[in-house]
Amino acid sequence: MIDDVHELRTDEFLAEVHSFEFWFQSIEGYLSDSTWGHDADAEEEAIDDEDRDRLISVLCNYCVGEAAALEAASGMIQIAPDRHSQIFLATQVADEGRHLEVFLHRLAELGVTDADAEIAKRASPSLLVFKDRLLELVSGKDWESALFAQNVVLESLEFVVFRRHAAEADTITSQVLEGVIKDERRHMGFGENELGRRLSRSPKLQQRLRDFRPELDALVLATLKETAHHLELDAEEERVLGKGYLESVERLGLLG
Ligand SMILES: [Fe+2]
Ligand SMILES: [Fe+2]
Repeated sequence: MIDDVHELRTDEFLAEVHSFEFWFQSIEGYLSDSTWGHDADAEEEAIDDEDRDRLISVLCNYCVGEAAALEAASGMIQIAPDRHSQIFLATQVADEGRHLEVFLHRLAELGVTDADAEIAKRASPSLLVFKDRLLELVSGKDWESALFAQNVVLESLEFVVFRRHAAEADTITSQVLEGVIKDERRHMGFGENELGRRLSRSPKLQQRLRDFRPELDALVLATLKETAHHLELDAEEERVLGKGYLESVERLGLLG
């Protein structure tokens, strides 16, 4: 009986935090006054050609990551085990579509006229493999692995990279990233919550994800290396990013 009441509360809690109501209240605070993810009157800073080129490479890769999340999150709606998760994923699809849009818009502001061609030229090979792998998991209807790959691994990678980049980027890029980070935090929360509950009940699932994790970690760390190069980070800073990513994944207790 107590368990039932407990379950009901969990259910009510999830219905609330995975709702469009909650989503709208969350984004309203930081998006209602923005244009393309930044203050409408924010001024473009002077940026030299080499830095502009590096920034374009980084943004092209952000577009790959966001397109991966957009395609995967929309496919995951079909394989989600319950309505709360489906509704949350619908909010995530809206977020990921917006992220892709603001990064594409930022590329245009930086003078890129053919974003698809630039993305094809500059995309990190490891990130493209990651995207294919993620979409394979979704089309194979493997809910737990897809949730792990997207809402834990990919979100953790984006979170640590965006946060590091926002700290030193030009004002407009930084404002765009800060808005995206707030959404990614929500997506990570969903992954940790959904998967955390399942992992605590199933040692078999823990083992399955533990076995699968090194493949994804290798792709993420290779992607981080390429991103660190574009952001001109030294080896120590790259190590700190890698550590941030690993810690985020480890919070689920997959290494226990
Ligand atoms: Fe995103
Ligand atoms: Fe996300």
